[in-house]
Amino acid sequence: MRILLLSDIHANWTALQAVHHAEPEFDACLILGDLVDFGPQPDKVIEWARQNATLVIRGNHDQSVAQFIQPHKNETMWHRLRNYSRILHWQNLSAENLDYLSRLPVRKYWTCEDGRFLLIHATPFDPLHEYSTDEKAFWKLRLQGIDADFVCIGHTHRPYGESIGSVKLINPGSVGQQKAGECVANYVVIQDGHPEFRQIHFDIEELIAEFEAAGFEQEMQQIARKVYTKGFTLEDAGIPKNAG
Ligand SMILES: [Fe+2]
Repeated sequence: MRILLLSDIHANWTALQAVHHAEPEFDACLILGDLVDFGPQPDKVIEWARQNATLVIRGNHDQSVAQFIQPHKNETMWHRLRNYSRILHWQNLSAENLDYLSRLPVRKYWTCEDGRFLLIHATPFDPLHEYSTDEKAFWKLRLQGIDADFVCIGHTHRPYGESIGSVKLINPGSVGQQKAGECVANYVVIQDGHPEFRQIHFDIEELIAEFEAAGFEQEMQQIARKVYTKGFTLEDAGIPKNAG
């Protein structure tokens, strides 16, 4: 069985298309949340997920967009891009896709011939917001009582794989937005139970053209170019230094 595991697409249709082009064949596609915010094409990403994904779970950004949560920080370029994109999302997202976002499950178990999967955006302690570290002790505590062969998480935008006891913990990283700023999409293919971490490049010029086409003003296009090519620090994003 071939499972395509994606997370944190963040309205980046350019990157998602690149992944689909590289991985046209799969038996199941699991998406670990954050379809929206930051990028220029939320409708296209949501429609792709609705057509191609076996399961999609809710990320904190899906929650914020669907529940009309007003962002309260606007200091850094990362915040400004998020806030600007969210307003455009609210203006332009189809009612059907907004409704779809609002109904995404927070966590989901799924079983196939390779085993039992638990899908969560962040961690079992706080499925939407907690930033995980790479430390085994952190995960041992959070996996207590979890009955699954695979626990799949996203949120940190950093690929990570580890065996914790009998559980395979897999974070595929982000399709749409690398913290380090490379224009690459990270994802995982689970082939017959074995996770393979993959990375492919997407075209930054094509992405910036989509920002322009979606109505992002010039300054926001420049900010987007910086965020997608130079990255941002954890402090830029308002994430504690010790977060994973
Ligand atoms: Fe995210």
